Amino acid sequence: MIRKYTFGNPMETDAVVHKIEKETGEVPFMGVGADQLAFTYKMDDNTRIYGLGENVRGINKRGWRYISNCSDDPNHREEKNSLYAAHNFIIIEGKERFGLFFDYPGMLTFDLGYTSSNDVSIIPAEDGLDLYIIEGESIKDIVKQFRRMIGRSYIAPKWAFGYGQSRWSYMDEDEIREVVKEHRDAGIPLDSVYMDIDYMERYKDFTINENAFPEFPKFVEELKEQNIHLVPIIDAGVKIEEGYDVYEEGVEKGYFCKEEDGTDFVAAVWPGKVHFPDMLNPDARKWFGQKYKLLLDQGIEGFWNDMNEPAIFYSEKHLDEVFEQLEDFKGKNIDLDLYYKFNSLVGGISNNPDDYKRFYHKFHGETVRHDKVHNLFGYNMTRAAGEAFEEMEPDKRILMFSRSSYVGMHRYGGIWTGDNLSWWSHLLLNIRMMPSLNMVGILYTGADIGGFGADTTEDLMMRWLEFGIFTPLFRNHSAMGTRCQEVYRFENIDAFKNIIGIRYGLLPYIYSEYMKAALKDEMYFRPLAFDYPEDDFAARVEDQLLIGDGLMTAPVYEQNAKGRYVYLPEKLKMVKMKSLTERSVELLDQGHHYVDIDLDETVIFIRPNHVIPMSSGGQSVAEVDFGSLELLGYVEDKAVYELYDDDGYGKDYENSDHYTTITVSQDGTVTAKGIIERRYTLSI
Ligand code: GLC
Repeated sequence: MIRKYTFGNPMETDAVVHKIEKETGEVPFMGVGADQLAFTYKMDDNTRIYGLGENVRGINKRGWRYISNCSDDPNHREEKNSLYAAHNFIIIEGKERFGLFFDYPGMLTFDLGYTSSNDVSIIPAEDGLDLYIIEGESIKDIVKQFRRMIGRSYIAPKWAFGYGQSRWSYMDEDEIREVVKEHRDAGIPLDSVYMDIDYMERYKDFTINENAFPEFPKFVEELKEQNIHLVPIIDAGVKIEEGYDVYEEGVEKGYFCKEEDGTDFVAAVWPGKVHFPDMLNPDARKWFGQKYKLLLDQGIEGFWNDMNEPAIFYSEKHLDEVFEQLEDFKGKNIDLDLYYKFNSLVGGISNNPDDYKRFYHKFHGETVRHDKVHNLFGYNMTRAAGEAFEEMEPDKRILMFSRSSYVGMHRYGGIWTGDNLSWWSHLLLNIRMMPSLNMVGILYTGADIGGFGADTTEDLMMRWLEFGIFTPLFRNHSAMGTRCQEVYRFENIDAFKNIIGIRYGLLPYIYSEYMKAALKDEMYFRPLAFDYPEDDFAARVEDQLLIGDGLMTAPVYEQNAKGRYVYLPEKLKMVKMKSLTERSVELLDQGHHYVDIDLDETVIFIRPNHVIPMSSGGQSVAEVDFGSLELLGYVEDKAVYELYDDDGYGKDYENSDHYTTITVSQDGTVTAKGIIERRYTLSI
């Protein structure tokens, strides 16, 4: 049951698609502050809190203060309060169980037992929000009701479930050819290569640097013949430059964000000075979305949207002010006080909170200052693309994922989790973030595998991939200036080939589970607590996840570890894999185990009466044969598996032709019912 309460005059964010009548009575569960709008709740000692999507810290969010304020901050350290997204959905599980969604586009603080360990208080920067309270028979049920209300999750093309290689930046055609060749020569599967900002002509959106890519459409085609998709980045800021059509059109039509005096707001990002398209204005959004056609027409089938918090290196006006104030420091003895002032003046230039108050949107016909709707910007940039794709390519899926997001964006694209670092703790953060992202409908997601900033190591890369093979977005990405981390650069190339190969082997399972989660508003990644609600210990586990219906993963995320402790909420079958074919199997009882896991080993745990359909792999998704499957099973009585397969591009998702029901009986007999004939072999 969902109840909606309205406070003040909220702005319509379009997060919710299935509208709910608002209630007028008292808000249940929560205290509501009288003077300043604030929502409070008293926890008991065992209360847990789940949610908040892309965020720092654990799966159970209790014990910290989180602030929804989409931020371009590459230091995802524990003391941070905000990352790139605003996902204002939590579930409180304790003496009472209920979900809360705060549909509010400005800054919102969640104090979840930080100021006082048993107190929750949630405070918006200003009045005007819709609060949804969701009750359900289980955590999963609450998530499902919420997800139904906010609409179906984005579905990526099937090729985008393959392995992607990225780096900031591959500078020209030859460098990309080399990356592809190295993978193919070593037999490492690969489906995509990402193009970072240097493919553009001086960082101008929707342009191609013709010196580096002289015959771009031909190059796109050449790679497609090898089953490789090129995925270019699109940035939020449009370069200010006479003669650049996107800039000139935007100025002429009045589609850029404005200053208070009506002039176009000038910020700076990669190209230097830019204007921001007013993504909140439907006309501007439509115009910006249509621009993707310039690349679609050249054979491109996927994009990633970046810097859309939006990131601001500096604003023209603020920089002028800083230069002026710096004059005061000249010739002075810079002592302790002055040194701090100096530092904060110079260090506070980028993403300065005051800059977010300097520009305005045309939103639902009104002029609205940016900070009041800040968290909607990235969402609406991706919506611009998603709506345009729907118009331009109604029958074809286009890959799209974004850095910044708000609830509702999950209908138009996925996200990657931004600029992490090559730290073991960020591998753990990746593991913990996945289920909370699924709670808000973001299913197509993954981190920069191996870490974006800082130098990676071979062992970190390997362990990260062993988890990454389960994330729908499966991409190795790193920053300019860091150690190169294409997997063929390391010593044990065969181990990398095998680990990535396991992903392609598991693809029939990963794809089926993804599609079912998207189509039924369910979660692909879940904490143990969600499936084993009666198990007190399962509720404490923060480093193991359930993936789809039949699998549990317990990744290794520590340097030099040769294994780890694993908690089994029931008897499970452990399968250790060094490659698709080199496997060992052991049945483990419910309880705690120490499991040895070699550096080059991937471990999965199969739940009772489940089978995992596996292919024999391939060098690209196109080569994976969903028609000939091996079933990796743990069948005590009977296992029934719902396999989903389609052409990977079309949008007739609901067509029952896509499903095959596979039944495995106790004696190992396999029957399959579906429209499409398939061959099966059963092993284990
Ligand atoms: C941002 C993105 C990163 C990208 C870089 C250059 O930092 O998060 O992924 O490589 O910009 O475009």
